[in-house]
Amino acid sequence: MSGGGPTAGNGRNGATPAAIAVEKIVKKYGAFEAVKGVSFSVAEGEIFGLLGPNGAGKSTLIRMMTTLIPVTSGRAVVAGHDVMKDADAVRRAIGVIPQALTSDQDLTVEENLSIYAKLYSVPREQRERNIAEVLESVDLAKWRKAETKTLSGGMRRRLEIARGLVHDPRIFFLDEPTTGLDPVSRIAVWEMLNNLKKTRNLTMLVTTHYMEEADRLCDRIAIVDHGTLVALGTPVELKQSVPGSNVVEVQFARESDAWMERLRALPDVTEVQSQSAGVYRVLTSNGSQTTTQLVEMAASMGEQLTSLSVQNTSLDDVFVHYTGRQLRDEQVKSVFIMPQRPGGNA
Ligand SMILES: Nc1ncnc2c1ncn2[C@@H]1O[C@H](COP(=O)(O)OP(=O)(O)OP(=O)(O)O)[C@@H](O)[C@H]1O
Ligand SMILES: [Mg+2]
Repeated sequence: MSGGGPTAGNGRNGATPAAIAVEKIVKKYGAFEAVKGVSFSVAEGEIFGLLGPNGAGKSTLIRMMTTLIPVTSGRAVVAGHDVMKDADAVRRAIGVIPQALTSDQDLTVEENLSIYAKLYSVPREQRERNIAEVLESVDLAKWRKAETKTLSGGMRRRLEIARGLVHDPRIFFLDEPTTGLDPVSRIAVWEMLNNLKKTRNLTMLVTTHYMEEADRLCDRIAIVDHGTLVALGTPVELKQSVPGSNVVEVQFARESDAWMERLRALPDVTEVQSQSAGVYRVLTSNGSQTTTQLVEMAASMGEQLTSLSVQNTSLDDVFVHYTGRQLRDEQVKSVFIMPQRPGGNA
């Protein structure tokens, strides 16, 4: 499915070695191949996103890159060290935030950080400095003495991020840092990660299944699905790789088998995705023209539109284009249960 789209390159910086280089990496669990020969590289200072649905292989990729599980075949080089041959050197250079929250609930914020710093043999005087610094950068300084169990979900995530940074790593791996957070806390975490990137010159590899998060935060994104890399590029490159630059989202008051075909037949339309009963995303190279034609078409047939909007192509469209599926099926379900009054309205 990768034809035509941006594909994995070997880093775009000829001179500086990549912070992370993964070559044809494979992970098998018994007979099941969870990661099927993925290659990409991450330049120093980059925020690189692994975007994919549940079970795509994101955590498996992170676990291999962070030496937590062995690589079945292929190679991963992190901070210049092979993860299989020199795991200790890799571990010293990286910080890791696993998918599950792992800070100790019964300890204070400071104690959680201190244990980690000791684990990484950060010398005592530097420990104090590092803890103060990371607490400042995640905006938890005044919660230093608080017990971890009293923190909100967003604050706990921030504590985990602080903990991952307390030994001053060069490369930071974050597995779904915002899953389960409310929208406000999610945005706060994004802003924090952006600041960290600027102030600490960190290289970050972030996994997520939130499109808008990847779009806003990442310099480049690799879309993974069923253990395979299906597209790789900057958010802009990925969106440009999908035919059609606008998306007209339309809802017809009445569902009909005919809509799909009629929408596809409109000039400038490059792709039509069915969202739910009567709801379609129409990719087009001319948003305003398609909107006019769509309204005229509905009027001439005596059909009513419930809603109509024009947007730019999103990473959602990129994902559907390369995988043929919606990333978040719960989104579709939520449209299905919207109450509809008989007779409709327009
Ligand atoms: N220890 C294991 N043994 C067997 N299969 C596993 C193991 N860990 C993961 N898998 C399988 O490998 C595939 C990839 O899982 P992985 O956790 O890497 O996905 P993911 O992209 O991180 O998903 P999520 O968004 O749900 O976290 C899944 O089908 C999963 O069931
Ligand atoms: Mg995962």
